[in-house]
Amino acid sequence: MKSDSGANLRHIAIIMDGNGRWARKRGLPRIKGHDAAEKSIHDAVEVCGELGIEFLTLYAFSTENWSRPKAEVSFIMKLLSRFIKGNIDDLDRKNVKLRTTGRLQDIPDGPRRDLELAMERTSGNTGLTLVLALSYGGRAELRDAFVEIAENTASGSVSPADITEEMISAHLYNSDVPDPDVIIRTSGEQRLSNFLLWQSAYSEFVFTPVLWPDFHAEQLRDALEEYRIRKRRFGGLE
Ligand code: FPP
Repeated sequence: MKSDSGANLRHIAIIMDGNGRWARKRGLPRIKGHDAAEKSIHDAVEVCGELGIEFLTLYAFSTENWSRPKAEVSFIMKLLSRFIKGNIDDLDRKNVKLRTTGRLQDIPDGPRRDLELAMERTSGNTGLTLVLALSYGGRAELRDAFVEIAENTASGSVSPADITEEMISAHLYNSDVPDPDVIIRTSGEQRLSNFLLWQSAYSEFVFTPVLWPDFHAEQLRDALEEYRIRKRRFGGLE
């Protein structure tokens, strides 16, 4: 892909899927697939940095993922801490700003503190904003936004007739982050799984059969090339 392919591409969002299948194919326990996911995350940050992408959102843990076996959930939370501690210097050096989306209050104290420290440390960085979606669910996010708006209507500060789409967007978790231009899902599944439901209204979708631990720089560049050749009309005419 050429460097001009970053045009009209501010925000890439990725559903990192297929870690468990990657491990099973190798006769390994599922957690080894999550372990192997780190290199792909590294590559995605690297490619986004090279292309001057402003936002990269990674679906790391959904509100539904809490129903997985306790041992797997606990492993992913430990992995999160390890990822933050092991990569914070490199992310900071690369001018990456770390943020999260989702119900951070659900994340256990240890990894949550690591995340908060990392976010504080990188808050002044001006390069890629890396958004980790953690305990994130699109319906939960919309519900939380509707509660805030309902409170404003109950107090009389907003009249129901004045509720606009812009107002709903403004009550989402990261209202300053633009909608994703492209959502990539690995592992061959072709669904959104409660990811960025409101924000994906006009996103392009790229589905690839490649399992997340095998999705490296080259595969991401290929997916972005597929996005680049599509024409986006936002419901209008060319
Ligand atoms: C999907 O694969 C992966 C997850 C639900 C968890 C993703 C977690 C990571 C990539 C690691 C933790 C995050 C960070 C930022 C270090 P799956 O387990 O659903 O795979 P399967 O569909 O093949 O079973």
